[in-house]
This record gives sequence, structure tokens and C-alpha cells, in this order.
Amino acid sequence: MIYPILTPEEAAEFVQNGMNVGVSGFTIPGNPKVVPPAVAAKARREHEAGREFKINLFSGASTNDYTDGELSRANALNFRTPYQSLPELRKRINAGELHYNDRHLSELAQEFRYGYYGKMDIAIIEAQSITDDGEIVLGTAVGNSPTWLQVADKVIIELNDQLPETIRGLHDIYVPADPPVRREIPIYHASDRAGKPTAHVDPKKVLGVVKTSMPLGKNEPFSPVDDVTRRIGENVCAFLINEMKQGRMPKSFLPIQSGVGNIANAVLDALESSTEIPAFEMYTEVVQDSVLKLLESGRCKFASTCSMTFSHEAMMEFFAESEHLHDKLLMRPSEISNNPEIIRRIGVISMNTAIEADIFGNINSSHVSGTKLMNGIGGSGDFTRNAYTSIFMCPSIKKDDCISTIVPMVTHVDHTDHSVDIIVTDQGIADLRGKDPIQGAYEIIEHAAHPVYRPLLREYLDLCQKGGHILLNHDLALSFHRALIADGDMRKADFSKYLK
Ligand code: COA
Repeated sequence: MIYPILTPEEAAEFVQNGMNVGVSGFTIPGNPKVVPPAVAAKARREHEAGREFKINLFSGASTNDYTDGELSRANALNFRTPYQSLPELRKRINAGELHYNDRHLSELAQEFRYGYYGKMDIAIIEAQSITDDGEIVLGTAVGNSPTWLQVADKVIIELNDQLPETIRGLHDIYVPADPPVRREIPIYHASDRAGKPTAHVDPKKVLGVVKTSMPLGKNEPFSPVDDVTRRIGENVCAFLINEMKQGRMPKSFLPIQSGVGNIANAVLDALESSTEIPAFEMYTEVVQDSVLKLLESGRCKFASTCSMTFSHEAMMEFFAESEHLHDKLLMRPSEISNNPEIIRRIGVISMNTAIEADIFGNINSSHVSGTKLMNGIGGSGDFTRNAYTSIFMCPSIKKDDCISTIVPMVTHVDHTDHSVDIIVTDQGIADLRGKDPIQGAYEIIEHAAHPVYRPLLREYLDLCQKGGHILLNHDLALSFHRALIADGDMRKADFSKYLK
């Protein structure tokens, strides 16, 4: 190998205060694991010596604790984009200790190429292998690595020997040309390959290789499917079956996008046991352990993803069975896994989780009570806006009965009513298609809201100024949130008091 072998500490020495740094991966998989902690240690040393040390960090999505966790604990982040999900980093963002820009995940790579963020100084990329002429087999996620390898001035490679050789062939690396010369992306089915199995870097840019032997998967257990998430899963399934019966969805079915988390897990469970929904494909950004089960059973015929968001055990199981599973999965850059052009062309059914929805169909995915960032918009906007049918899911109530997820007006808007077709809760299915905003409001109240909150929501509508296309009471629109903040309970929304 022509590249210098570096220790993590030697690699970290190349990272300087104020640099733009790109990392590989998408959610926990595929992130670098030993260089970022060494950068965090360097930041601590610099701070102790009274010197500034903060970097601007660009990733595919959220990252692992070695990256966002270590760097935020070391107070080494000045700017972060496009997504995050670690409590430590969230706390600092919400305290205003760093700048965070919440972006659609499909857009960051092209925005970087367009020059929105200046130059990228260093990219730190986890890989299975690199050849002397710069051919790279990436790890268990692609994220924005192909673009980082193109735009970064310098590159550090983390070679992880836990990545088996059989990972070669699971990547589909395609970087579109930028306007005005971009052409169509040649993906017409979820399983089409558009690019090459390897990424490429100019070998002259490689500062060196750091050898690692770090576990690959994430290891946070999911909560088991409970009554509420099971009902949401069953309602989603019932909706999809009815769509086929009504002829609104082809009998052969359409590719689905499904996020991570307990609700997504419950939906996949329900899809697995459904006898009426045929075997299907996924065109999605992450695949969790439940998708491995679906691939093994044949219920899922193919998964196009950006990241193998498996537990370590499931990851090992996948690679042990790669003879059968190798041609059933492709990992693509996030600008392709989440690409609006392809999502609309192949007719993806999007399924995402909301923090709250309002009675007019606007969705808040990212900011609790409108101010505190939870995770971010992630890929939900990429999929929702371009889906064949867009579905949002959430439990109708949270924290016992104290929070209604269906509110008069959302406190932050990630997805407007124009992009939202269906809202599913444990209570039922609200279908907003073909309805005006007021018809939609009654549909949501009667089919998605919890019975405890229906009278309050109906009363709110009664108290709205009449005569517009949308009903609104400017004094009461945030009454549920005022009650939550004042009394910890939305049921205490006291319209007569707020109207005084
Ligand atoms: N009002 C006030 N607080 C709320 C709330 C609401 N309507 N909804 C959720 N919360 C709080 C919860 O109480 C919980 O707080 P806690 O940790 O103190 O208990 C926290 O927010 C998280 O809620 P939870 O129900 O555990 O979230 P989840 O794991 O089901 O995830 C999202 C829901 C929306 C946060 C998550 O799906 C997400 O980040 N989505 C955006 C990204 C996305 O959609 N990506 C595409 C698919 S991968």
C-alpha cells in the first residue's frame, strides 16, 4: 500500500481549528470510529492551552457516539449539518452552543458541490479497502462519502478489518453531474444499479490510512411492539390493503420507505404477517433488523437503502448469509437513496413518524413545542413531498393523556398540508386526499385524534373565525401548547381563560 499508516492521534493532527470536516456514514453505520475521538482529545488539549478549537462537521445524517458524541462533549463543534440524533449534541444545540442547520438529506452533497459551504478541508472515511489507484470499498453506509471524496482537499481513511470482503458489490456509487448538465438518474426500479460498486479518490489527496477493528452495528434494542404501535401498524396495513382493493395502488404493490424506530418496526411487523399484501420492495434510507427478517423470509424482495442500520448481530448474520442476500440489497449515496426524481418515478409509499400533526394536516417532525430540536427533518421531506402516497404516523396521545399529538396548529412546520395524504394513529386513518381544509380537519379529529381530545378540538373549530378557506382562531391556535407549558397537560387548555 502506498499510503502512510497513521495512528488516530497522528491523523487528528491534520485537523485544525475552523476546518470544514466531512465524515462517512449515515446514522450509526459507516461512520469513522477512531479518528473523531482523537480529534476530540486534541480539542480538549487545545482548550486547556487556552486556544480555540472547533470544527464544522458535515455528515450523511446523524452519526455515532464516537463522532457527534465525542466531539460535542469536547465542545469541538462550531457548525453541524444536516441531521443529528444524540442527546448530548441535541442538548448543546438547544442551548445555543453551536450552529446547527437542519437540511433535507438528499440535498447536502449537491449543496456542497454548488459551493454553499466553502471548501471541504478534510474528509474522514471508513472503508473496507483502498487500492493504490484510489478505488475504495466503503463500509455499511454510503451517506455523502462519494462527494466528500471528490470535494475534500485531503482524505483520511479508516480501514476497518471487521468489514468482510463480501461487502464488495453491495454499494451503488453514482454522483450526478450538476446543473445545467445533469441528466436523468437511470433507476427505474428499486433494484436497478446506476453506478459502480466502488467509490474513488485521487490517491494524492490521501493523507494516510488508520487501521481499526471496531464493531459495525448499532446496539440499541427496540422497545417491543406494544398495543399502541401494533394498532398503528395494523391501521397502516389496512389502509394499504384497501388502496389495492380500490384500484388506487397496483396489485403488484409499490416500493415502500420506512424509517427507523418503534413505529416503523411495528409497521414492518404488520407487513410481514399480512397475507393480502404481496411481497414488496423497499426504496428507503435505512434498513433495521426487521428488514433483515423480511429479506430472509422473502416478504421483502429487494431493499435499496443508504445504510444498513442493523444491530451488530444482525450485521454478522447478513454477512454470514451473504450468499443468499447479496443480490437483495444495495446501498446508495443519500442523494440517490432519497432522490426526489426517483421517488416520484417509481412511486414510493412514504411512511414517517410525526412529533405532532395539526387538524389541517401540517406536520411537525423536528421541534418539540416549536422550539426544542428533537432530531431533525432527516429524509422525511425528501420522501413525503415526492411520494406516490405520503403517510404520517404517530400515537394519538403521549405521556399518558397529557399530550395530544393532534393539535389545532403545529408549533413548527416541516411538512405542509399540501404534501400530506394520510395520517395514521392508533385511533384510525385520516385520509386527506380530495378534501378541503375544513373537511380535512373533521376527518383528522374523528379518525386520528384520541377520543379524550376530540371535544376540545371540535370546540376549537367552533370558536374559529368563520369565512375563510382555513379556520383559525388567532388567540387559541396554540392553546394546547400553552396548557402543556403551564400545567403539563393539554387537557387543561382553557379556551375561556385564553379568550379574555
Ligand atoms: N409534544 C411534546 N413532546 C413530544 C411530542 C409532542 N407532540 N412528541 C414527542 N415528544 C417528546 C416525547 O415525549 C419524547 O420525550 P422524552 O424523550 O423526554 O420522553 C421525545 O419527544 C421523543 O418522542 P418519541 O415518541 O420517543 O419519539 P420517536 O422515537 O417515536 O420518534 C420522531 C419520533 C418524530 C422524533 C422521529 O421519528 C424523528 O426524528 N423523525 C424525523 C426524522 C425522520 O422522519 N426521518 C425519516 C425516516 S428515518
